[in-house]
Amino acid sequence: PVILVLNGPNLNMLGKREPEVYGSTTLDEINEGLITQAEELGLEVQCFQSNSEGALVTRIQEAFQNVDGIIINPAAYTHTSVAIRDALLLHDVPIIELHLSNVYKREEFRHKSFVSGVATAQMAGFGAMGYNMALQAMADMVKGG
Ligand code: DQA
Repeated sequence: PVILVLNGPNLNMLGKREPEVYGSTTLDEINEGLITQAEELGLEVQCFQSNSEGALVTRIQEAFQNVDGIIINPAAYTHTSVAIRDALLLHDVPIIELHLSNVYKREEFRHKSFVSGVATAQMAGFGAMGYNMALQAMADMVKGG
């Protein structure tokens, strides 16, 4: 099974960006960890980050019928993007929405997600470890566990 791991704007700056909120782990470190974990779980992960809404939409479209699950941290687009939500609606595979921080204890504008209504599950506040937790859960979802 192939799992697409998508990260939105500014997540390429993890490690440097507001470390008190997002932690010190870089996106490369997260992705390398996921690749190792995927091997153990018998999965393949494809990792993609973009600062551009259109590039994320295009990547979600390209994944149509080519992936078995999607883990997405849409970052700021979570709170603004009907386009990403609509692109995800193409898919009939499990979708996990993930946030490093607990968006619900932050500013009110982060409480609204356009993605959660089309996601299978949502998780927030586990930091970088959340990606590993999401992949573990995804392994069960795609294998019918
Ligand atoms: C985020 C939360 C968003 O509100 C924010 O815009 C981000 C990161 C998170 O992972 O906690 O860029 O998605």
